[in-house]
Amino acid sequence: MNCVSRRGLITAASVGITGPLLLDQAATAAGRAVIATKKVPVGGGVIVTARDVVVTQPRKGRFRVFTSVCTHEGCTVTDVAEQRISCPCHGSQFSITDGSVVAGPAPTPLPQQSFKVKRGKIYLT
Ligand code: FES
Repeated sequence: MNCVSRRGLITAASVGITGPLLLDQAATAAGRAVIATKKVPVGGGVIVTARDVVVTQPRKGRFRVFTSVCTHEGCTVTDVAEQRISCPCHGSQFSITDGSVVAGPAPTPLPQQSFKVKRGKIYLT
């Protein structure tokens, strides 16, 4: 198995672009914001590795939060592009809208996380 460790992963993704991890130190504390909504691209998403989540915005103002742990064998997803969240290990891809499996061996969707938007920031609930 050559999975990407959840702890070892230091990447973030947005629409078509893989970039540096969003290491918001404050985000690791309980009750702290995961990410500012303005950092989540419309039609894409951002992987927030420090919180093990993917925050997406399928349509303007409509956010979703999913676990970033692939339901196949537990790798961390690493990319969000073309309306899909991708796992590098065996090629599973998930919808940014509902986490459903759109390609690959993953047996179930990415579980959604409950959240709220408050003052322009996403908080897990
Ligand atoms: S662990 Fe993600 S596709 Fe296998």
